[in-house]
Amino acid sequence: MNTPQSDLRTAPYTNPALPILERVDDLLGRMTLEEKVGQMLQLDARGNIEDLVLGKLAGSLLHASPERIMEARKLLLTTRLQIPLLMADDCIHGHSFWPGATIFPTQLGMASTWDPALVEKGARATAVEVASTGLHWTFSPVLCISRDLRWGRVNETFGEDPHLIGALGKAMIRGYQGNGLTDTTAILATAKHFAGYSETQGGRDASEADISRRKLRSWFLPPFQEAVEAGCRTFMLGYQAIDGIPVTANKWLLNDVLKGEWGFTGTLVTDWDNVGRMVWEQRVCEDDVQAATVAVEAGNDLVMTTPQFFEGAQEAVRRGDLDERLIDDAVRRLLTLKFELGLFENPRIPDAVRQAKVIGSAEHAAVNLEMARRSLVLLTNDGTLPLDGGLVPSGTVRAGISGEPRTIAIIGPNADDPHAQLGDWAGASGQINWLPDGHPRHLTSTVLDGFRAAVPEDWTVTHARGADIGRLVPDPAGPTYADGQPRPPMFLAAGTDEAMLQEAVQAARNADYVVAVIGDTVALAGETKSTATLELQGGQIELVDRLIKTGVPVVVVLVQSKPSVLPRSVLDAAAIIEAFNPGMMGGRAVAELVLGLIEPTGRLPISFARHAGQLPIYYNQIRGQHGDRYADLSQDPLFAFGEGLSYTTIEYSGLRILNESVTPDDTVQAVVTVRNTGNRPAIETVQAYVTDVVTSVTWAERELKSFTRVRVGPGQSVDVELSLPASACSLVDQNGHRVVEPGVFELLVGKNSRDAGMLKAEFRITA
Ligand code: NOJ
Repeated sequence: MNTPQSDLRTAPYTNPALPILERVDDLLGRMTLEEKVGQMLQLDARGNIEDLVLGKLAGSLLHASPERIMEARKLLLTTRLQIPLLMADDCIHGHSFWPGATIFPTQLGMASTWDPALVEKGARATAVEVASTGLHWTFSPVLCISRDLRWGRVNETFGEDPHLIGALGKAMIRGYQGNGLTDTTAILATAKHFAGYSETQGGRDASEADISRRKLRSWFLPPFQEAVEAGCRTFMLGYQAIDGIPVTANKWLLNDVLKGEWGFTGTLVTDWDNVGRMVWEQRVCEDDVQAATVAVEAGNDLVMTTPQFFEGAQEAVRRGDLDERLIDDAVRRLLTLKFELGLFENPRIPDAVRQAKVIGSAEHAAVNLEMARRSLVLLTNDGTLPLDGGLVPSGTVRAGISGEPRTIAIIGPNADDPHAQLGDWAGASGQINWLPDGHPRHLTSTVLDGFRAAVPEDWTVTHARGADIGRLVPDPAGPTYADGQPRPPMFLAAGTDEAMLQEAVQAARNADYVVAVIGDTVALAGETKSTATLELQGGQIELVDRLIKTGVPVVVVLVQSKPSVLPRSVLDAAAIIEAFNPGMMGGRAVAELVLGLIEPTGRLPISFARHAGQLPIYYNQIRGQHGDRYADLSQDPLFAFGEGLSYTTIEYSGLRILNESVTPDDTVQAVVTVRNTGNRPAIETVQAYVTDVVTSVTWAERELKSFTRVRVGPGQSVDVELSLPASACSLVDQNGHRVVEPGVFELLVGKNSRDAGMLKAEFRITA
């Protein structure tokens, strides 16, 4: 059984000239059951690394610090077969945990650009950085649909709409995977969390998802299917159960749908301890032996951070509960991937020379700045913005405006907080232990930094924090649950601090303008950090109330992980800018926007509730209810999906469909005229929604089917062509089949998902 290491050089599997199939067969044939089960493990590299690589024979590691990546490699070279490790991490908006890497806006921020090409560029930059550090795989993109804003992971998603999610997801996958498996600047992408994980009960993370198979197929699965079509090589399975079955054990979803109908041939990885959770959390398995059996039989390849799987799976085979051939199948898939990546010849270990060139490079910072600029969404503006009519980039005053020196007070808990700006999964956000202070401070331009750098020389920038938000504290119930599992800390909101408030009010009174930067913190975003409420926490509401009372124009900037419920005073502000965790360049982008050095172009990928009781508030709700309001509140969102203002005025007119009667195989062609009636340039996001007038099953009132961005100069008119495959005007019928039902459809074109103001035209799909 023990092949001496000297034999390796002559072993067929080490011969790159042989076909992969042959190499896999040869290697698999040499492996013991122990080695095969080890290959199926993906373990946390922060543990005892010797035990992981030499004891558990892990095939893959995650969360490895730069030092641990090297250690793991050295240890691997002492193993019998030297099967390369697959190194993975959550590099989900940049190389999250590599000191000094480029950290982009979170996915929700990226989604606000509505720009797949830009998102692809960002992912490419991330891949280039990640690939230079010895990692082969990122757990990104998240393709979950955010519908309950209380959920802690809204920031990780592309928002609420399947079409937008699909388009951006595909772009991100292309960016990561570059020219394919042999591209050494590429990394594997992961479509996650397959599927329905975001459909929580009351926002409770990983709770049972109450979705029928028909609804899965209708809205939750399409972005994942698109990911398969885009060649996404790996899928991560959600934590949760659907209709009683944990996804890890769901043969229908994994085998019938993903591998069968969609033809996915890539790798499946569970989420964190999904296999263990079937025993200790969901309690659908008696012990680790049964859980291992269930997981392997459902077709999982890699088992993330369930070390007990090592013993459990071997015991299951010994007992005769689990057919070893199923383990062979999984290992065959994993080895094939490693061979296809070329890891046996080039294990893609960290490359210091490349790192010096690409990590946090000026080129990537430029992409990041563009992403940050384009991610900002102007939600309200009483005309105060851009300040003083806008400045030109040199910082000199544009002709025609006063040129008076101004004082601008940058106030609020997120005005100078790099962590809130980077958001979850970045530096010190809590998932890893080697960056306690986060990324080097100078790499992040906070809003305060941004203004200091961007205002004209004779302007004065002042700052006061004004209020705190809150922090995580240990749960008084103790650090662990009865079964020994860790109990997450809880959020303790800060009280109001009179001295801080007064300092802020004084700064406001001495200023011509106030920029109030408020929102949430990483303590309120992420796993185990779902919130029961959506209100601004700590002393923030009192702060804004008082700032507004000064009468000085207040521009509110929301640096936050998800839409919050906004108090009256925020709605009374001169302007509101949404900046979903805008990344390292976010502060500079905000300053540029406020000063009018750039145009506002972002659009909301998610709707804002007026009150948490309105949830779910997503725009594409299913038709049919009594009335359209609560007795005590409207059902209208505060800001709807697709909303966002420009500094100019845009008018739509003349929507016309060129082919009003089409078959399901045709493409509907339409034209709309977009006119810039103001005096600043715009990038307008033209959004096309479709209503299927009568449907055999209840269906969404309207769904986004196409969008395009168009540049329109002041006074300019542009005819925008929209093409829409009739096959996209489909629904999932009562038998679970996606079909186009012939009949009348409405095309709605406009600035956002709200009905008011949309142009409408009818077309017919014939049988
Ligand atoms: C758990 C999270 O749910 C998942 O998104 C992440 O990729 C893994 N942990 C690995 O960190």
